[in-house]
Amino acid sequence: MPKAAFIKTMFDDISDKYDLLNDILSLGIHRLWKKKLANKIMATNPQSFLDCATGTGDIANLIDSKGVKTQGIDFSPNMIELAKKRNSHIPFQVDDLMGLSFEDKSFDASNVSFGIRNVEEVSVALSEMARVSKQSVFVMEFGQPENKIFKSIYFMIMRGFIPAIGKIFNREREYEYLIESSSTFPSGAKFIEIMKSSTGFKTFKATPLFGGVVYIYEAHNK
Ligand SMILES: C[S@@+](CC[C@H](N)C(=O)[O-])C[C@H]1O[C@@H](n2cnc3c(N)ncnc32)[C@H](O)[C@@H]1O
Repeated sequence: MPKAAFIKTMFDDISDKYDLLNDILSLGIHRLWKKKLANKIMATNPQSFLDCATGTGDIANLIDSKGVKTQGIDFSPNMIELAKKRNSHIPFQVDDLMGLSFEDKSFDASNVSFGIRNVEEVSVALSEMARVSKQSVFVMEFGQPENKIFKSIYFMIMRGFIPAIGKIFNREREYEYLIESSSTFPSGAKFIEIMKSSTGFKTFKATPLFGGVVYIYEAHNK
């Protein structure tokens, strides 16, 4: 099965358990990471915002609650249905990061959290986000801790803990994918290089969270 079809089916299938599994697997810490990301986005003072691969709409909700005109997209119809139910006043639509349906510079800022790792071509998704954004592109994604000892311990725990939770929910295949993709996805300086070549923006920043387990990346057009 092509990667995009596998990913879309996977997220359609787990959509109803997605929030619960996120809370269990991250021990609730994903909420703190998302607040930190929302604060960074708000620091750029956007008037309009696009949340890509929005899932059930967590980041869209955080930014919308600050009074910013917000739109969310995801290519999983089931995720979009849930996002609409949870945040009925925010416009959500099915759309693909590989070719966004918005005009150039439609938003001040755009974001993708825990979604870029899943797309078919990272550089295409980032250039699409830059195309529709006037000021900034934000990405939050799993990375690999730089400290070698911490990195080995972290992935050892993850390789035991995550499949065990996946088994309880009968979702082993999905959570094997989560570990494999997170342990190999380019992080830190490597991801910034991809952002530089894909966006054409001018300034870039990578902020590691929890020792590099997760990174927030920023690209700004000034
Ligand atoms: C791990 S979830 C993240 C959801 C949400 N952003 C969050 O942080 O909780 C990844 C999401 O990316 C979406 N996705 C993956 N590839 C996509 C693509 N090419 N275009 C749009 N959405 C995509 C999936 O459907 C899924 O909802």
